[in-house]
Amino acid sequence: MSIKVWFDSELIAADAAHVSVFDRSFSVGDGVFETLKVDHSTALALTRHVRRLARSAAGLGLPEPDRFLITNAVAELIDANSAEFGSMSRLRIQYSAGTGGAGSERASERTRIVITQTKATQWPATTQVITVPWARNEKSPVVGLKTTSYAENVVALARANAVGSGEALFANTVGDLCEGTGSNVFVVLAGQLLTPPISSGCLPGITRELVLEWVGARETDLPMSALADAQEIFITSSTRDIQPVSHVDGRLVEMAPGPVTVRAQEIFAQRMAQTPDP
Ligand SMILES: Cc1ncc(COP(=O)(O)O)c(C=O)c1O
Repeated sequence: MSIKVWFDSELIAADAAHVSVFDRSFSVGDGVFETLKVDHSTALALTRHVRRLARSAAGLGLPEPDRFLITNAVAELIDANSAEFGSMSRLRIQYSAGTGGAGSERASERTRIVITQTKATQWPATTQVITVPWARNEKSPVVGLKTTSYAENVVALARANAVGSGEALFANTVGDLCEGTGSNVFVVLAGQLLTPPISSGCLPGITRELVLEWVGARETDLPMSALADAQEIFITSSTRDIQPVSHVDGRLVEMAPGPVTVRAQEIFAQRMAQTPDP
C-alpha cells in the first residue's frame, strides 16, 4: 500500500502526483490552501475550512471551488490512507490557479485541487516565541486570505527556529500586535482574554473563531507591549489547538499555562470532541 493523494479529480499514489513547472501556485503563489487536523479519520472543522478556502479563492478572483467535491474527496482520501497514519494526521487542501502565464497575469481558468495527508506535527506543551521587525500588512490586497504565498512566514519562522523558538509574532503596519507565521495570538491582561481583531490584518483563524465562540474573548487592538504586560499568552492553529507561550524574546511569561489558558484548553478539547465539525 502506498500513500494516496487527491489530484484534480481522483485518488492517485502520492509518488505519482506531479504538478506542472508552470503551475501558478508553484511559480507565483497564485493559489489558496487549508491545513487541518485529522483525528481518528475525522477531518476537524472541515465545513469551516472548506468555506474559508472558498472565501480565499474568491479574494484571489479564482472560480469558486466545488465544495461538495472537496468534502467527498477528503473522506475518500482519509479512507484510502487509513492504514498509513496513526490516530492523528494532517490534511492540506490546495487550490491552485492552474497552469499558464509566466508572470503575474493569469492565462487560463483551469484550476487544480490537490489534497495531501501527512504525519501529524507533534507540538510541545508550551512554546517560546520571538517578535520580528517585519510588518503584517493590514492593507494588503490579500489580507485575510490563506494564499500559498508564504515566503514572509518562511523567513520569519526560520529566524524564530534559529534561536530555539517555535513561532514568530508580527505587528501590523501601525505597530499593533497581529499574528504568528502560522497562528493567531491571545493574551490575558488583568484576567481578561484578548485577541487582535481581524482588522489588524491577521488571518481569520478557525481555531481563533472557535475560541471566541466557545471560550469567549474580546477582540481589541493591542500594542506590542501587551506581550510584555500579559500574565498569560497562547497561540492557536488547527494543528496546535491552544498552545501556551512560555517566553517572548527570551523573557519568561508569568504563567504558561495559567488558569485562563488551561480553562480555554479544556473547553476547546471538550467542545471539539462533542462537535468535530462545528
Ligand atoms: C498566518 C496564519 N495565521 C493564523 C493561522 C491559524 O489559523 P487556523 O486556526 O485556521 O489554523 C494560520 C494557520 O496556519 C496561519 O497560517
